[in-house]
Amino acid sequence: MPKDTLTVKDNRTGKEYEIPIWENTIKALDLRQIKVTDDDFGMMSYDPAFTNTASTKSAITYLDGERGVLRYRGYPIEQLAEKSDYLEVAYLILFGELPTKEQFESWRYDITHHTIMHENIKDFIHAFRYDAHPMGMFISTVAALSTFYPEAPNIHDPNNRLIQIQRLIAKVPTIAAFSYRHSRGLPYMYPDNDLSYTGNFLNMMFKMTELKYEPNPALERALDVLFILHADHEQNCGTNAMRSIGSSHVDPYSAMAGAAAGLYGPLHGGANEAVLRMLRAIGSVENIPDFIQSVKNGDRRLMGFGHRVYKNYDPRASIIKKTAEEVFEVTGRNPLLDIALELEKIALNEDYFIERKLYPNVDFYSGIIYEAMGLPATMFPVLFAIPRTVGWLAQWQEMLGDSEQKIARPRQVYIGPEKRDYVAITKR
Ligand code: ACO
Repeated sequence: MPKDTLTVKDNRTGKEYEIPIWENTIKALDLRQIKVTDDDFGMMSYDPAFTNTASTKSAITYLDGERGVLRYRGYPIEQLAEKSDYLEVAYLILFGELPTKEQFESWRYDITHHTIMHENIKDFIHAFRYDAHPMGMFISTVAALSTFYPEAPNIHDPNNRLIQIQRLIAKVPTIAAFSYRHSRGLPYMYPDNDLSYTGNFLNMMFKMTELKYEPNPALERALDVLFILHADHEQNCGTNAMRSIGSSHVDPYSAMAGAAAGLYGPLHGGANEAVLRMLRAIGSVENIPDFIQSVKNGDRRLMGFGHRVYKNYDPRASIIKKTAEEVFEVTGRNPLLDIALELEKIALNEDYFIERKLYPNVDFYSGIIYEAMGLPATMFPVLFAIPRTVGWLAQWQEMLGDSEQKIARPRQVYIGPEKRDYVAITKR
């Protein structure tokens, strides 16, 4: 009868250890018993960038990178993108089940009625330099919200937590739109409760002098699909930051500002902006072979390709490709799409990319759609942060309710100098 254990032999001592296996993992702490002498600290595992370490158990998002599978709470992303809407998916991610009609109506009401911000927040955003990057404003404003809700640090009260969660999901589109309008020198537009979550966001972004803003239904839906695709993605850099900062039991606004900062980098949520710059630099389809060659030479990366977890086509990229066509029927074709399609075709047939299992990720096509919708590249990371808010908050709540979690505090392997005595500056 096979046993669910791992037998480890320490060749330094000849001793054998039997370590339990759970869900194809071993607990790193079980290695600590492996010692050469009794006063040894014990063995640790070394895993820079957590490439093979599960930092938590989670019931939110299932991702199989080898097969290109993504599910929220068990539901395939393809079905949610086709049949659901962002607010319903947000409910699912947070509470674990799809809402009944009544639950959904009350959820939508609560989110819709928390979209307005304190007027001081407007002054706060107003104080940024005229050309400030909207993501910098977004991160700082999310952090600043903690100062408006003195009860927010009371994170152990589930009702109090829920109010902060509703506020954050409701207000991030408002913060995002105000940041954009500030960077354009445009007056801020207040939320319109008659509109959907994404319809209202478009309203706050683009309304000018018309009495009532009417979002184009195809663009409103496309944005909703993009929001669904970005709602959660298990333990990525931003989410790991949310859990890590949240593990100190700080309020959710401060933790989420850190998560959003993680998202801002070009290797994470900033990649779609980098994709657009890359496509523009390529300029036309004829220049693609030279560009691919420079990637193969190691001179640059093909932005929007590759993923730490997906070693197959990112399922979100397939859905986005379809959404792109729907958007272009309204906006006209973005010429960068032809470069992107050709780039993908060539890359997928090149040994360099095949051997390394590099496929398009979610960012490869999203920027092209956003641009066609009139959303500038500086807004791309912000457009990622809005829907990811629910993922961060769901993961944060899960972490708080997990009795195995403690304040995040990795170990290190010290490789610096041994003890040495201080030498006076005159003698160095
Ligand atoms: N273009 C060219 N080569 C690449 C690329 C790329 N986009 N991505 C990885 N490689 C190569 C690496 O050079 C390396 O080759 P080597 O083995 O010859 O040294 C190999 O593939 C493995 O790459 P790593 O960097 O070790 O893979 P890692 O898992 O650390 O990186 C990452 C993942 C950061 C996403 C990387 O693929 C990348 O930089 N992609 C471009 C940026 C991007 O699109 N980021 C968005 C990710 S999706 C998201 O965050 C929502």
